[in-house]
Amino acid sequence: MAAKHVLITGGASGIGFGIAQGFAKDGYRVTLSDINKEALDRAVAELGKQFDVEVAGIELDVTNSEQLASAPDRVGVPIDVLVNNAGIQFVSALEQFPEDKWRLIIDILLCGPAMLTKAFLPQMYKQNFGRIINVGSIHSLVASPYKSAYVSAKHGLLGFSKTIALESAEHDVTINTLCPSYVKTPLVENQIAAQAQSHGITEEEVINTIMLKPMPKKAFIDLSELAETALFLCSPAAKNITAQAITIDGGWTAH
Ligand SMILES: NC(=O)c1ccc[n+]([C@@H]2O[C@H](COP(=O)([O-])OP(=O)(O)OC[C@H]3O[C@@H](n4cnc5c(N)ncnc54)[C@H](O)[C@@H]3O)[C@@H](O)[C@H]2O)c1
Repeated sequence: MAAKHVLITGGASGIGFGIAQGFAKDGYRVTLSDINKEALDRAVAELGKQFDVEVAGIELDVTNSEQLASAPDRVGVPIDVLVNNAGIQFVSALEQFPEDKWRLIIDILLCGPAMLTKAFLPQMYKQNFGRIINVGSIHSLVASPYKSAYVSAKHGLLGFSKTIALESAEHDVTINTLCPSYVKTPLVENQIAAQAQSHGITEEEVINTIMLKPMPKKAFIDLSELAETALFLCSPAAKNITAQAITIDGGWTAH
């Protein structure tokens, strides 16, 4: 039997690459995609070295309509699992928030997943199988100041997932949203450095007094926790789990 096939956006770094490692370890054929061609090539080579599975890479900017629409053709082999993960962050009070950055965040975090899902749904319906996993955030559920674009997009992603869960319900297709709190990836490392500078405190203090403060368990979420949760959503036991926010937040939302 052919190995199941997963496509991951933003797969060259952080959570995307961590999820890729989990699926490769489980025997999946993996296609990574990313806007950053150099990082993508490195990630494809690294994954191929680590695991004895088929690994491919396609350069894909999730804000590019043409690239999104043509992704099924470019990937070539039908996929079983789509992981919408690509993302960026920008932190600013709304009054100073550059409009182009605000719109870009909505484009990457919300329009990209929607249009890529649109591109792959016909294939999933035809094969009567598909698992769509959106990487949302704790910010799909709660807000933090100065992250208005990010919080809006991540809340929107949850609404999108619920809607598509209803539209796809008659097929063996599910769509869910992972909602992690902080995971130590380059995206968060950059925030630690930036906040240390803007608050005039050490990086250690940023971690302990700002980042881990709302998390009762006081620990970053590990990449393997996200990968294992994504794999569970693709298992037979999860075939009726759809439209859900899967919260992995060390207790944040209990406050
Ligand atoms: N790190 C965290 O604490 C955390 C927490 C919750 C949710 N998330 C979400 O997880 C996802 C991955 O974040 P990460 O922390 O791994 O960040 P990261 O910066 O390590 O990786 C993001 C990847 O997305 C790619 N990317 C950026 N813009 C793109 C575009 N237009 N098209 C295609 N690829 C693009 C980047 O090149 C990069 O490889 C994001 O959606 C983020 O919002 C992260």
